[in-house]
Amino acid sequence: MSDPKRPEDLANPPGVEFVARDPNSPAFWDERFERGFTPWDQAGVPAAFKTFAARHPQLAVLIPGCGNAWEALWLAREGRQVQAIDFSPAAVANARAQLGAYAQVVEQADFFAWQPPQPPGWIYERAFLCALPLARRNDYAQRMAELLPAGALLAGFYFLGKTSKGPPFGIERAELDALLSPSFELLEDEPVSDSIEVFQGRERWLTWRRRAGR
Ligand SMILES: C[S@@+](CC[C@H](N)C(=O)[O-])C[C@H]1O[C@@H](n2cnc3c(N)ncnc32)[C@H](O)[C@@H]1O
Repeated sequence: MSDPKRPEDLANPPGVEFVARDPNSPAFWDERFERGFTPWDQAGVPAAFKTFAARHPQLAVLIPGCGNAWEALWLAREGRQVQAIDFSPAAVANARAQLGAYAQVVEQADFFAWQPPQPPGWIYERAFLCALPLARRNDYAQRMAELLPAGALLAGFYFLGKTSKGPPFGIERAELDALLSPSFELLEDEPVSDSIEVFQGRERWLTWRRRAGR
């Protein structure tokens, strides 16, 4: 068996048989959550996330593709306004169990169809864009632009560079810039010090501000 820490092997590891092969379907993620195979999971809250959240205490946060919802739990405990969504019933069950008294902050929903009760001030990205098939990248940019009003922020961790297969699907930096720049202005671009092994050296903290118009 090859090294299971290769990003390419994260969701489809060699030697492990999964039935569901399409990351665009909830069944793909259900199978992995149900079998306890979640190698993307940080099992905690990344430092850059906490720093950013502390600098923007007033922002209502949306977390699409929240998985086990570590960050949503942290925000809820801080008394912050947070909404987390995931389209996988198994992920939502995990998230609700972990959120306990705050279980209502997570909803089972498809990011591309879900309508927020009110516009978020910040959408948090971690291991969501890289979980999507390449064909959905334009949809991601368009949906982010639709959900965020002018001046609101899209901020989090982006998994950069090419991968031969996925998920996670790495994105070349130039492609990411071309994808988001029409609707967003890049404000912050920082290295990440506490990546888990599979993302190490390949992720950056990026903060994008929604432009007016488009
Ligand atoms: C690689 S996991 C990352 C989970 C979490 N963000 C984390 O950092 O641990 C990707 C998650 O996105 C969810 N997901 C994928 N496509 C989605 C969609 N269209 N709508 C909502 N959730 C989606 C999956 O169910 C899965 O929980």
